[in-house]
Amino acid sequence: MSQQPVRYDRQGAVGVVTVDSPPVNALSQAVRQGLWDKVTEGFNDAAVTSLVIVGAGRTFIAGADIAEFLTGGMGEPDLNDVNDLIESGPKPVIAAIHGTALGGGLEVALSCHYRVAVPKAQVGLPEVKLGILPGGGGTQRLSRLVGAKTAIDLITTGVFLPASKGLALGILDHVGEGTDPLAVAISFAATLPAGPHKRTRDREENLVADKGSPVFEEARASLAKFARGQFAPQRCVDAVEAAFTLPFDAGLKRERELFFQCMAHDQAKALIHVFFAERAISKIPDVPPSVTPRKIAQVAVLGSGTMGGGIAMNFVNAGIPVRLLDLDQAALDRGIGVIAKNYAGTVAKGKLAQADMDKRLSLITPTTDYADLADADLIVEAVFEDADVKAKVFRRLDEVAKPGAILASNTSTLDLDAIAAHTKRPADVIGMHFFSPANVMKLLEVVRGKDTAPDVIATAMAVGKQIGKVSVLVGNCDGFVGNRMVQYYATEAQRLVIEGASVEQVDKAALEFGLAMGPFAMGDLAGLDVMGFIRARRVAAGLIYGTPLSDRIDPARKGQKNGRGWYRYEPGNRTPLPDPEITAVIDAYRAEKGVMPRAIGNEEIAKRLIYTLVNEGAKILEEGMALRAGDIDIVYIYGYGFPAWRGGPMKFAELAGLDNVLADITRYHADAVKAGDADGAYWEPAPLLARLVADGKKGF
Ligand code: 3HC
Ligand code: NAI
Repeated sequence: MSQQPVRYDRQGAVGVVTVDSPPVNALSQAVRQGLWDKVTEGFNDAAVTSLVIVGAGRTFIAGADIAEFLTGGMGEPDLNDVNDLIESGPKPVIAAIHGTALGGGLEVALSCHYRVAVPKAQVGLPEVKLGILPGGGGTQRLSRLVGAKTAIDLITTGVFLPASKGLALGILDHVGEGTDPLAVAISFAATLPAGPHKRTRDREENLVADKGSPVFEEARASLAKFARGQFAPQRCVDAVEAAFTLPFDAGLKRERELFFQCMAHDQAKALIHVFFAERAISKIPDVPPSVTPRKIAQVAVLGSGTMGGGIAMNFVNAGIPVRLLDLDQAALDRGIGVIAKNYAGTVAKGKLAQADMDKRLSLITPTTDYADLADADLIVEAVFEDADVKAKVFRRLDEVAKPGAILASNTSTLDLDAIAAHTKRPADVIGMHFFSPANVMKLLEVVRGKDTAPDVIATAMAVGKQIGKVSVLVGNCDGFVGNRMVQYYATEAQRLVIEGASVEQVDKAALEFGLAMGPFAMGDLAGLDVMGFIRARRVAAGLIYGTPLSDRIDPARKGQKNGRGWYRYEPGNRTPLPDPEITAVIDAYRAEKGVMPRAIGNEEIAKRLIYTLVNEGAKILEEGMALRAGDIDIVYIYGYGFPAWRGGPMKFAELAGLDNVLADITRYHADAVKAGDADGAYWEPAPLLARLVADGKKGF
């Protein structure tokens, strides 16, 4: 960091206050103090008639310093005091915005008398994504500028607005040309009218227009549905409403109270954890930033089926050309047909121009000839999940791929080291495990084999980011991280049903917890036939895999794909409907085992589902298959629809208290042992969890 996080200098009659606190000019205590001092200096400088606040480096102020929230060290001066100083000052102050003016950063700008920006700038109040609300006057000042409905929309979604939209809404006063915000602000300053400058707090027109508006109640009702279970969004509405019911200073006070209520809530702790966890995933101790990724200009994808097609789309969407190889022309035609249909759907929704669709399709070159892969820098294999097929493919790739090409496998269950052993270049082999639908799902597990070279890891992580994925490095174990955890979760769902819950109740409890989908609906989506293949392979490999009910389901029930799985589906409709055939299977199982069904509460269901993830996650962590507990959380949030506001399974356990979690897990284990239920063997407490609790530790 530079010596002075905020400095003051003059450009003619304009005083320039520059915030220079890399990487994003966050409002740490030192920056707040610096702003206070330098704005005061500018107001006292008789040589200037107006002030500009601008950010050095890549951005304006990107918000409060989130790291300070974790330490609770939000010392004086308070952001509200800084904002009040700016707004009440004797000279007009102009915020000169480039990069992003977010959260507290936009709140500083809203306290300025004018806001100007370069065309590429973005503005927003994204606090809700951290489980909090704008606490520096943002709810009060933005409401005055844009009215109740728009303020609620912007604050409850946390959306980043492009400068043009900010201008149209009246958040910005002017958008200049070019990339230099200071130049834009200085020419704007020359146009300022004489006389008293306007203060956002005094703007009355929207307050009058929206007083008593029904939008508050409408927003509450809508959030109760779309942000179910979440604390901050409702508090955002309360804070905006205060702008319309209370005088400015009382509104600010109310906003503060609500801000601290949010800060004290577990959901803020969870979401702030997710913010940092998401940024930590790219930090790999033995692959430092000094390791240069290999250049990826040409990609090849093998297999144009469900996964290969989606994977190819990811690369061409990012402008990287792809050669797509399959066994024969018919398979290729089918694969390309699906890709084209996918794009056409996006075009029909108006989200992609026809010309862009054509451009993307033109970047895909279908082939059946391995010789065409010779110039590929990265080859991603997505052929049948069959060890012999993969062996054949990798032996062939070893013959044709150029030296230095990266050979990646999208296998979901096979041993990456065994795959690498089919080549003479295991250091160049890596797993790139996409999730279905591969063009949509954000998660990419990058699987490190025992010989994978550091620059190959760096390349896979970088290329993942380039194609818009959230890439998490994982170790080579059965199921890697996500699927290894989910198998026990799926089994536990079945055990709950055997004990007395219904399929629908288990899914409902999962939804109530906040998961995007219940375990049975998820099974139907993934395909019960696919699960069956995986199960058969695991059983053949001697891996214990209890699936008490799935083994008894008619194999013809494949899930959503043929309208029959754990549920039944009407043609063309994805709504799961209870199926008496499944109830009969459950009843027969209970009768055979002499199980007297009992009533199980939704809370127990959610706990047991989530704690299977926690216990296995702790084992994964101890084995070093994930680098950090936060990495596991990110896998679950981006790959399995785990609610971010719960922090991911590992953070959820920390917030519940590791000692409480261990006590429950120990009890579930004892219950399984007592019942002689080998399927519940995974409840054996993870040694890491037991050790942390014994040592009085609160986190993983
Ligand atoms: N506080 C502390 N650190 C921050 C930060 C913040 N507000 N914003 C970003 N950083 C850090 C990141 O942790 C990262 O650190 P690292 O390099 O050590 O991992 C570094 O800055 C760069 O961040 P990104 O990797 O995210 O860089 P990008 O260029 O991809 O994105 C960004 C930049 C759009 C600014 C993005 O970082 C972002 O969205 N930041 C958060 C913005 C935000 O939520 N602001 C509101 C904060 S809450 C608030 O203001 C409360 C107020 O109302 C009182
Ligand atoms: P799929 O059956 O839809 O597609 C496989 C494609 O590979 C077919 O087009 C087939 O013709 C082609 N193929 C088979 N042998 C080939 C060979 N020797 N050379 C070239 N092409 C060949 O299978 P899917 O679902 O796309 O799976 C592919 C891989 O992705 C598997 O390893 C699977 O485990 C993995 N995966 C699948 C997920 C899913 O949800 N379907 C999720 C994540 C990974």
